Amino acid sequence: MTKKRIGVLISGRGSNLQALIDAAEDPDYPAKIVLVISNVAGAQGLARADAAGIPTLTISHKDYSSRESFDTAITEALEDAGAELLCNAGFMRLHSESFVRHWWNRHLNIHPSLLPDFKGLDTHARVLEAGEKITGCTVHFVRPEMDTGPIVAQAEVPVLPGDTPETLATRVLEAEHRLYPHALRLVASGAVHVEGEAVVGTAL
Ligand code: GAR
Repeated sequence: MTKKRIGVLISGRGSNLQALIDAAEDPDYPAKIVLVISNVAGAQGLARADAAGIPTLTISHKDYSSRESFDTAITEALEDAGAELLCNAGFMRLHSESFVRHWWNRHLNIHPSLLPDFKGLDTHARVLEAGEKITGCTVHFVRPEMDTGPIVAQAEVPVLPGDTPETLATRVLEAEHRLYPHALRLVASGAVHVEGEAVVGTAL
């Protein structure tokens, strides 16, 4: 089996990155992480990649005068590493349209809500304020508009009485750690692909 070569973009803790690292340890997993890039120096996720022997880079947006030049540096590093697919895992910068076009249908993001509901930041606090009884997480292909794009997979998570944004985030995060490796497996194996603006194919 030829494994797809994956680049991962992070900004912080990297627990979703860890879930992907753990999944990729399975010899039958169809993807291999070849580079982790953080826009934040010292991000915890960089240490996770180091511990797994995965090359890392810090590319700080603060060192670039425009979003485009920052994005170009990221693409160059990914292509030097031979990355074929890109996974955002808690990467907290918006991409330029040209970057999104470059990685079109080769670029996944995970978001902690059932998209298209609750795009953006402070998701769990807004879910609680709205009185939702079910929330969850979504893995989708990246499009120029934030937190939109063809959906690969979603998982539902109950909102429980007494939840705070923190308790809800913890419950959703556990679901994220199952969902992201599953979704990446679907895409990397070729079991699913984008047709029109929908993800079609066979579930594994
Ligand atoms: C995750 O909950 C992820 O869904 C969210 O940030 C967290 C990162 O955690 N991403 C977004 O909100 C992107 N819009 P992690 O660094 O431990 O994976």
